[in-house]
Amino acid sequence: MRVIMVAVALCLVCSVLVSAAAVVLRPEQELNKALDKKKNILLAAGLIEDDGTGDVDKVYTERVEARLVDLATGEYTDAFPVETFDQREAAKDPEQSIEIPDREDPAGIGRRSRYAPVYLVRESAGSSEYSGVIIPVHGKGLWSTLYGFIALEKDLNTIEGLGFYEHAETPGLGGEVDNPRWKSQWKGKQVYEEGSVEISVIKGKVNPDSPNKAYQVDGLAGATITARGVSNLLHYWMGTGAFQTYITRVREQGLS
Ligand SMILES: Cc1cc2nc3c(=O)[nH]c(=O)nc-3n(C[C@H](O)[C@H](O)[C@H](O)COP(=O)(O)O)c2cc1C
Repeated sequence: MRVIMVAVALCLVCSVLVSAAAVVLRPEQELNKALDKKKNILLAAGLIEDDGTGDVDKVYTERVEARLVDLATGEYTDAFPVETFDQREAAKDPEQSIEIPDREDPAGIGRRSRYAPVYLVRESAGSSEYSGVIIPVHGKGLWSTLYGFIALEKDLNTIEGLGFYEHAETPGLGGEVDNPRWKSQWKGKQVYEEGSVEISVIKGKVNPDSPNKAYQVDGLAGATITARGVSNLLHYWMGTGAFQTYITRVREQGLS
């Protein structure tokens, strides 16, 4: 009897401790999550070192201005506060999202939220001139949905960088999307040719003599499905079904 009472008491004490730890640590977890997102935004634009070192909060506050975009019109909206807007949650809400017909869904995501954040990059700390914009993208690879950011220069065509902060592709195969050497190829590549999304990850190596080399990135050996997934998600998010209306507007009116 005594043994059972001790065991029950122990279980109770432990469950109280675990629950208390979860409650006490939640705010810190939320803070770390927010910091991690900021870090990945800065990494895509090369605003902090590749290893993530640098004062993320300071650089983010000085150099980044988040805005919410209505993807249908390409205009900014204040429908929701951008810093707390959760694009993934919004995509699950029928009121805040649209279904993507199969033939228009190369990213394989099924639905997308009506609104999406963009992150304008200030020329320098506190400046009201912008040198580029960072855009969230996601889509299916082989095993998982890859979530990342593409950073574009002021012309909204030249790529500054691309990086994924969440996926479950195989390390050494699809996981090579995180390899700094592979990622470094994206800088300077072009997204559009005469309004059509041309950027893609090819199979094999880019031919330096190819007239299309500005739109091509080397494939991932043994991971063609992940590589194709990266091409497809960029075609979706840079295309007319998603950010192209915004991008076209900003290219005409200037980045503001
Ligand atoms: C255990 C295992 C893990 C794999 N992981 C990936 C992956 O993460 N991404 C991918 O595209 N292919 C992965 N593949 C390979 C695919 O099944 C497929 O063969 C490959 O994408 C074809 O690419 P290739 O034409 O470059 O060889 C994996 C295969 C195995 C057996």
